Amino acid sequence: MVRHFLRDDDLTPTEQNEVLELAAELKKNPLSRRPLEGPYSVAVLFDKTSTRTRFSFDAGIAQLGGHAIVVDAGATQIGKGETLDDTARMFSRFTKAVVWRTYGQDRVETLAAHSEVPVVNALTDTFHPCQVLADLQTIRENKGSTAGLKMTYFGDGANNMAHSLMLGGVTAGMHITIATPDGFVPDPEVVEATRARAEQTGGSITIIGDARAAAEGADVLVTDTWVSMGQENDGLDREAVFRPFQLNDEIVALSESDSIVLHCLPAYRGKEITAEVIDGPRAVVWDEAENRLHAQKALLVWLLEQSRS
Ligand code: CP
Ligand code: NVA
Repeated sequence: MVRHFLRDDDLTPTEQNEVLELAAELKKNPLSRRPLEGPYSVAVLFDKTSTRTRFSFDAGIAQLGGHAIVVDAGATQIGKGETLDDTARMFSRFTKAVVWRTYGQDRVETLAAHSEVPVVNALTDTFHPCQVLADLQTIRENKGSTAGLKMTYFGDGANNMAHSLMLGGVTAGMHITIATPDGFVPDPEVVEATRARAEQTGGSITIIGDARAAAEGADVLVTDTWVSMGQENDGLDREAVFRPFQLNDEIVALSESDSIVLHCLPAYRGKEITAEVIDGPRAVVWDEAENRLHAQKALLVWLLEQSRS
């Protein structure tokens, strides 16, 4: 059966652990796994802009012995209306996997439903699961493990990062707190999926409107842009709404004394995070960015192996 990675709960807790163990191994020995030797190709498509995702997949696929076909989806026939069903059938004949950054989650789901090769979500409006694998790898490096740790996210509780941190975080046994204003709470379906997963792992999910209370006792502090891709012209005054949820020194001081700070990047200093925090001693954002490479390589190796058996 072909396996896809469209949302964080597509991996069971055991499977997520396997991918993260492999990611750590590949970080030590980058060229030790070469499943794409040939080279075989992987399609890497973008409907939205990207720096880290584009470069880390391209570099990672090369290190796995393969060739990345990196294309802006608008320049393909998808942009002219060729169906996703037909596109998926065609990709399966050329490539070993398809990686796609797009808008609706339904789009990656439709592509996967008709694909004979693994499909990887490289960010949709609803999830950013590859980022959270890298985040979990970074937490493991700094804290030794993830189970039982408290991770608080500040900002837009309805965006892709909030959703993936919830679902991926509880899969790793973490206690997740989402600090967000009214009107930006996470999607109820994702909350329900997160609760269901938390029951299996001993993790938990809390959604609150008080950023200071949310910071108390946190081992990991995370934030993300207040304006996600596609929301630039939605007419909402996000700055006024999210300002009380800024990750600044005052908030960091309320967390555990050895807490770490994550940000998926790109960061907007003075908005969702201050320069003092992102450029300060608790931030591990550059390791986090590097771990995109290792975590995604591990994910591809794992998906290719699973899809063969
Ligand atoms: N964090 C992340 O996905 O970055 P890019 O948008 O640059 O790919
Ligand atoms: N929430 C952000 C993440 C960017 C990596 C966005 O969707 O733009």
